[in-house]
Amino acid sequence: MNNVRIIGTGSYTPDNIVSNDELSSFLDTSDEWISSRTGIKNRRISKGEGTTQLAVNAARKAIASSHIQANEIDLIIVATMSPDNFTPSTACEVQREIQADNAMCFDVNAACSGFVYALNIATTYIKSNMAKKALVIGSEVLSKISDWNDRGTCVLFGDGAGAVIISEASEEGIMNFHCKSLGKLSQHITCGARDLNNHYISKQTDKYIRMNGQEVFKFACTYVPASIQKLMEHSPYSLQEIDYFVLHQANKRIISSISKRLKIDINKFYMNIESYGNTSAASIPIALDEMNRKKILVKGNKIIIAGFGGGLTYGAGLITI
Ligand code: UT7
Repeated sequence: MNNVRIIGTGSYTPDNIVSNDELSSFLDTSDEWISSRTGIKNRRISKGEGTTQLAVNAARKAIASSHIQANEIDLIIVATMSPDNFTPSTACEVQREIQADNAMCFDVNAACSGFVYALNIATTYIKSNMAKKALVIGSEVLSKISDWNDRGTCVLFGDGAGAVIISEASEEGIMNFHCKSLGKLSQHITCGARDLNNHYISKQTDKYIRMNGQEVFKFACTYVPASIQKLMEHSPYSLQEIDYFVLHQANKRIISSISKRLKIDINKFYMNIESYGNTSAASIPIALDEMNRKKILVKGNKIIIAGFGGGLTYGAGLITI
């Protein structure tokens, strides 16, 4: 089996920064409630850019950072739960825009676990010699599927995209994954698509994100540490040897609870939820790119990424830099 490494990262978020105070000007909420319950202070909200545009901008930065040409990419996977279209896929649109004419392209929907799932798939393609260089993107415009009259959900989400380029390599860089789904709990996070509206029937669908927050909170605090423990069963390292934990940025209190359950110092958990809110599939690659640009990631670092969310889905991956 081939070795796989991350060779570049990129991210892009809309310019429009929306603070908790700004939300309080049109919603019955407060900075105190949002920041104490979630850790969120600001989020980026699109004033026109779609999911594809955010993905393209993040992809261009990842390609520049990896010093490759777009036509060397033979696989593009976009993780998103908020695509611009049913078809073409976001990945095919990215391919057109960046002229990665040699790639196979498709989207993956595993909600907030989407990036971990997509990275797992792309890694498997390279390990099994079906691709040599892959572009893996998480991109979301959650503001278009948020109910801006529902203070229980719309304050949580933000728009953004993050991307990585992974490549066949001489040394191992992406070790293994543990990904699972719990379809029996699917109704804890929902967002309908189109109405069923044809010659025979007209049935309305709720087109906004609805979430049973407390159940999802408990699910995350239970299943994510268990997933990380499972991942480590097949790892050459102990949990204590891991340098950074990059978890889906949904709630500071969830990350803190997971750090306690794993008995790992909270300072090893990278957090940027304060600036971006919950960007679903984009949160982990945005964080990885920030860490890369801040030069926090150094060769030899061992990182665990972990996502959780709609599906319900969850998953963890072990990466060495
Ligand atoms: O990314 C996908 C995965 N998603 C998650 O991981 C989310 C997991 N869940 C959570 O992070 C938390 O459950 C939330 C942050 C969503 C909610 O926090 P909570 O402590 O579970 O609050 P709650 O939903 O139980 O609401 C408590 C109170 C309610 O008022 P009453 O009934 O006690 O009077 C809500 O109406 O807070 C009220 N509330 C708000 N108040 C001010 C709900 N949203 C707001 C708001 N501002 N924005």
